Amino acid sequence: MTTSSAPGKVYLFGEHAVVYGEPAVPCAIERRARVTVEARHTDERLRVQANDLTLDGFTVTWGGETEDRPDVDVPTPLVEAAMGYIDGAIEQAKDAAEVSDIGFDVTIESDIPLGAGLGSSAAVVVATIDAASRELGVDLDSEVLADRAYQVEHEVQDGEASRADTFCSAMGGAVRVQGDDCRRLRDVPNLPFVVGYDGGTGDTGELVAGVRALKEEYEFADDTVEAIGDIVRNGEAALEAGNLEEVGRLMDFNHGLLSALGVSARSLDTMVWAAREADALGAKLTGAGGGGCIVALDRTEQTHTALEYTPGCEEAFRADLDTDGVRPEE
Ligand code: MEV
Repeated sequence: MTTSSAPGKVYLFGEHAVVYGEPAVPCAIERRARVTVEARHTDERLRVQANDLTLDGFTVTWGGETEDRPDVDVPTPLVEAAMGYIDGAIEQAKDAAEVSDIGFDVTIESDIPLGAGLGSSAAVVVATIDAASRELGVDLDSEVLADRAYQVEHEVQDGEASRADTFCSAMGGAVRVQGDDCRRLRDVPNLPFVVGYDGGTGDTGELVAGVRALKEEYEFADDTVEAIGDIVRNGEAALEAGNLEEVGRLMDFNHGLLSALGVSARSLDTMVWAAREADALGAKLTGAGGGGCIVALDRTEQTHTALEYTPGCEEAFRADLDTDGVRPEE
């Protein structure tokens, strides 16, 4: 039996635009997916048991004659995607270890809500590949692991995934991703993140397709994606200079442009405004949008408290930057 964990993330800047070659800066946060695997030599099936904030405990057997439908309170496409991610991650580990005829019991415990913009799928994929490959006697370097995790997301998301989520979860800290060029940012100041979660989800594939369609129809949408790239470049400089006031201001601009691209939601806008009115340095949606989470920067308790009293905000929490990426667990 082998266990690994990997962090979720928030986007300080650049989601969606990163799909079209602009840079993005995701940051790992101290909320983790923990995956335990046990190899089975009796059959080749995959048995998955999951417990997280949104999947209230389910078991699915995959690849056998009977595939039990999990009875969970989340949309079926999300559960199917979740299974696709786990199946793909196990295949990557088997490929790395050059074995084929083996089954796995996989247990997932995650405090990252599914499909809410905090990188739950990337964290599960990264932790699963790490645990399963170590279970098979192979130790993968984190960059190789990040690449294998990206192959899984790319396939499940029909070729529309960037490397941002998977690289960030594998490496930890604040990272910069532009196309295939991925690196960790050094000397990043402490980032006082506050997350507001509306209890909902967004369909990443649909939201990414929506932005693509808008870009094809309107020049303004193309320009908006480029403008997000400019915000990211300015944001990176502000981050390196330790100027959090400027980082926050640019987060506000970034949220406005994501709204213009149609990926915000009333609940997300309400939480963003609650954070701004509580004097957060800045606030924006994080991830694909459509529902899920916002991230704000605030050194004080004000935003956290304001979000707790904001109608439509189901959960608010502080989340420190996690400098650890994927790691083995006892
Ligand atoms: C989803 O977490 C972030 C998007 O930019 C898609 C991606 O980068 O794969 C919307």
